[in-house]
Amino acid sequence: MKTSEQLSTVNNLNIEAEARIYRTLRHFWHPVAYAQDLVGAPIGFTLCGQDIVIARMEGDVVAFDDLCAHRGTKLSLGQILDDCLLECPYHGWRYDKNGNCAIVPARPDLAAGIKKRIRKYPTEERFGMIWVSLVDEPHFPLPDYPQWNESEYHHVAVPAVDWACSAPRRVENYTDYSHFPILHDKTLGDRNLPEVPPHEVWREENRLENRQGEGSWIHVPVDTAAWGGKDLPTESHIRFSGDWRVFMPLTCVLNLLFEDGKRYHLFFHPTPISPKKIRNFTIASRDFGNPDDRDKELGEFVTMVYEQDRPVVESQRPEELPENLSEEMHIGGIDTFSIDYRRWLLALADELEE
Ligand code: FES
Ligand SMILES: [Fe+2]
Repeated sequence: MKTSEQLSTVNNLNIEAEARIYRTLRHFWHPVAYAQDLVGAPIGFTLCGQDIVIARMEGDVVAFDDLCAHRGTKLSLGQILDDCLLECPYHGWRYDKNGNCAIVPARPDLAAGIKKRIRKYPTEERFGMIWVSLVDEPHFPLPDYPQWNESEYHHVAVPAVDWACSAPRRVENYTDYSHFPILHDKTLGDRNLPEVPPHEVWREENRLENRQGEGSWIHVPVDTAAWGGKDLPTESHIRFSGDWRVFMPLTCVLNLLFEDGKRYHLFFHPTPISPKKIRNFTIASRDFGNPDDRDKELGEFVTMVYEQDRPVVESQRPEELPENLSEEMHIGGIDTFSIDYRRWLLALADELEE
């Protein structure tokens, strides 16, 4: 356990820090699929190195180890029968929604006696996503996203793509002010106006909050077609409104406000598949434009921005957040969010280490 004195410095990261942070991620909720994709067949996913299978059974979403108790076949290759049994594709053992083996086709007399069960994990369906926790008591509750239930918004599940990077690296990229005008020139900023607006960063319960100063705007010569806002002015300004946040450790909620009051939100989570591989899950929401154009306008815009980020983030070395912050140049007022984020990750690793 580190002392508070050690935690108060930014240079206390050590060689084991990244591995500890990765192990810590098991203690939290992660989305593993969009709810709209979980219809009929079970879906397999690798969460923090653990192979799991998710399915809908009798109205519930369930998650189990993706491992038949008989000979270790992946149950995600099987099927759901009568909405209540998950059938292994090999010899047809069938499991109920509690993970108990209910039927052994080759020895119908056996199932009740052998009491085989597969491990079951907590699940939730929220914000159009299926969430799974690998531990029975996740350290923090699920994040909030009140816009999901507000009638003036429409939403889209942006196609989930895998990136070769660590999850915390991706969170830093998602919340990094000073790259917007350079890497996203004309889409999220203007390279001729690269100064970072003043902003405050602070902890609040389970989240790291960020607020851009009142009246400070990022000037964006908006490509309105790209933003999908036919009714937006061609030259506009955007501001990250007061409650841009990261629900620790990985869920980012960006709230973008146009100067004419239109609102745009990104609810994002990079789910760790392994230490250096993530799947990007994003719900994009807006309160303007035509809902019928959501896939084309909202989804394609976000995908375009992500493809600008992807080669840059995948190129960063080390792939993990550096163990020692002094290995990178962190500049006050610009990288405050990153520094506070890394400190909190380390504190969580210390607290949750088994
Ligand atoms: S391996 Fe699953 S039923 Fe045999
Ligand atoms: Fe970016």
